[in-house]
Amino acid sequence: ALEKKVVKSKVGERVSVPCCHEIPSSESLHKYRVYWQKNITDVVLAYSEGKMISKHKRYQNRTEMDPRNLTLWISPVEILDNGSYQCIVQRNSIVVCDESVILFVTADFSKPNITTEGSADSCESTEKMIICSSHGGFPKPKISGALNNVSVEWNASWVSESSLSPYNVTGILVFNLTKDVNITCSVEYNGFAKSTSLLLKKPNDCIDPPMPPPYNVITASIIIVITFILAITLAARYLPRHVCSHCCKRQDLEEEGVKDFTKAPLSDKGTGETSSV
Ligand SMILES: *[C@@H]1O[C@H](CO)[C@@H](O)[C@H](O)[C@H]1NC(C)=O
Ligand SMILES: *[C@@H]1O[C@H](CO)[C@@H](O)[C@H](O)[C@H]1NC(C)=O
Ligand SMILES: *[C@@H]1O[C@H](CO)[C@@H](O)[C@H](O)[C@H]1NC(C)=O
Ligand SMILES: *[C@@H]1O[C@H](CO)[C@@H](O)[C@H](O)[C@H]1NC(C)=O
Ligand SMILES: *[C@@H]1O[C@H](CO)[C@@H](O)[C@H](O)[C@H]1NC(C)=O
Ligand SMILES: *[C@@H]1O[C@H](CO)[C@@H](O)[C@H](O)[C@H]1NC(C)=O
Ligand SMILES: *[C@@H]1O[C@H](CO)[C@@H](O)[C@H](O)[C@H]1NC(C)=O
Ligand SMILES: *[C@@H]1O[C@H](CO)[C@@H](O)[C@H](O)[C@H]1NC(C)=O
Ligand SMILES: *[C@@H]1O[C@H](CO)[C@@H](O)[C@H](O)[C@H]1NC(C)=O
Ligand SMILES: *[C@@H]1O[C@H](CO)[C@@H](O)[C@H](O)[C@H]1NC(C)=O
Repeated sequence: ALEKKVVKSKVGERVSVPCCHEIPSSESLHKYRVYWQKNITDVVLAYSEGKMISKHKRYQNRTEMDPRNLTLWISPVEILDNGSYQCIVQRNSIVVCDESVILFVTADFSKPNITTEGSADSCESTEKMIICSSHGGFPKPKISGALNNVSVEWNASWVSESSLSPYNVTGILVFNLTKDVNITCSVEYNGFAKSTSLLLKKPNDCIDPPMPPPYNVITASIIIVITFILAITLAARYLPRHVCSHCCKRQDLEEEGVKDFTKAPLSDKGTGETSSV
């Protein structure tokens, strides 16, 4: 029965706070007294006999009231406007209604910024410090996150000039980077959330030195390749003479004929090789 109405708004926006009575079209505001109060004691706006009789300094030029449904409009909304608003309507000095509405004011946080502390390629330790920060929001947020979908606890700290000022939040996480991880950091406030993800790769160069097999394989391959090249060079140098000493003159002539035939088109290119032949 005492369930209170709730209105959410962001700093700088225009918000409507509903009242509990609508004046029928047969009547006008002139027969009524309307009080919009905040936190019981502060009068935000008051009307009597159709005229504004009171206006709070802090709300000056930021408020309006609908003359029919008595809705209070606030624009632009400020953090200090957060709180409970009470609408009291009287007709001929008899209270028609009296109701409170809670206004929750929110200011957006910046998209979280994730940074890694220390030299990223340090091979001495796999321990990494991750810092997630976000600023300029309201109210005081929660910071949560996940490493590869597994939720983690951030060590959070908040900075604010007062309990009704924007907050800056920083979360710190220390963990051992033993495989590639996807880090997500979320800042949550009044049912809103902003998050950022960062893919952190395990440094590769650190694991290689204590594993000699790849090195040996590379050395062996190089030796094999060099041996092969040497063998081909030697074969190219000595094999033709060896063959020629056994072959007959006819074959020699045929080969020379072929060489002469190929000489013509090759000499066109003027390569050193053909001219030497
Ligand atoms: C009050 O009236 C205004 C305009 O006449 C309308 O925008 C608003 O939604 C109304 N509010 C309620 C609570 O009926
Ligand atoms: C409401 O008023 C009381 C006393 O009048 C004060 O202590 C309290 O801080 C006020 N709350 C807000 C949100 O202004
Ligand atoms: C409200 O508006 C009037 C007229 O536009 C201006 O003279 C006055 O300084 C304003 N008050 C505030 C608090 O901004
Ligand atoms: C905003 O006002 C509501 C109602 O008074 C209160 O419950 C809430 O704590 C306030 N929020 C902040 C951040 O002060
Ligand atoms: C994130 O933080 C780093 C280090 O503090 C800074 O250089 C960088 O500009 C920030 N990025 C954003 C988007 O705020
Ligand atoms: C992460 O978790 C969500 C729900 O918890 C699931 O739908 C998604 O498939 C998961 N992703 C990976 C990569 O495990
Ligand atoms: C959180 O950080 C504070 C200060 O940086 C430190 O004293 C505290 O031990 C940390 N808590 C955890 C659980 O790491
Ligand atoms: C919050 O962060 C912003 C931007 O980094 C900075 O200008 C501001 O002074 C910080 N506020 C507080 C209360 O530290
Ligand atoms: C990371 O690993 C080192 C050595 O294995 C260990 O001493 C340290 O406590 C670990 N840190 C975390 C945050 O798990
Ligand atoms: C990291 O995880 C978040 C949330 O689970 C997801 O949205 C994002 O696409 C992932 N990023 C990468 C690079 O896998």
